[in-house]
Amino acid sequence: MDINFSSIVPSIPFILQGIWVTLQIVFLSLIIGFAWGIILALFKISRIKPLMWLADAYTSIFRGTPLVLQLLIIYFGLPQILGITIDPYPAAVAAFSLNSAAYISEIIRAGINAIDKGQTEASMALGVPYSKMMKDIILPQAFKNILPALMNEFITLTKESAIVTVIGVQDIMRRAYQVGADTYNYFAPLIFAGLIYYVLVMVLTLLGKGIEGRMKRSD
Ligand code: ARG
Repeated sequence: MDINFSSIVPSIPFILQGIWVTLQIVFLSLIIGFAWGIILALFKISRIKPLMWLADAYTSIFRGTPLVLQLLIIYFGLPQILGITIDPYPAAVAAFSLNSAAYISEIIRAGINAIDKGQTEASMALGVPYSKMMKDIILPQAFKNILPALMNEFITLTKESAIVTVIGVQDIMRRAYQVGADTYNYFAPLIFAGLIYYVLVMVLTLLGKGIEGRMKRSD
């Protein structure tokens, strides 16, 4: 058995730089995915058939196929048929946002449906316009309830982001793998990468708990 942990010490800064890359992709994707997810959720509850159909079909496709496949289609497939080039970084953000929106839209839809119908009825009786009702009354309450589910999505995305390795993005995962390949010593850098992901997820979990606690206090 040859577990050589000291040999990765010089490579530690190189691997740590991947944290920033990973976090940037995850944060950006979550923000874009959240915005797109709200729109899709509103389509789903709109009772306007073509919009409902579109949002349902979208969710079905993006949840029904592997994320790594979507990433490869965006990075390798689209440039081929559209005659453009896409850098790995935006391709990664696009794939994660589009995929995450499918999941987030379901989370938001469930959150909206869980709000008591009396809220909608009261808003309508008071003549509050639909957009204002959603923005100021329904969505803020829904958001509070779905926070744990959103945190779950955040955590999933953080770990799942490791697949950007396949299109050459220098994230935590790829850097660890590279160090392994360069030094013929894979075990130590991969365990180190695992440790980084674990700490990231723990920090996110604490952050989520903190926000949740603060929202409860405001009740
Ligand atoms: N490995 C799963 C897939 O390829 C992950 C999907 C991403 N999940 C998510 N909640 N965004 O389908």
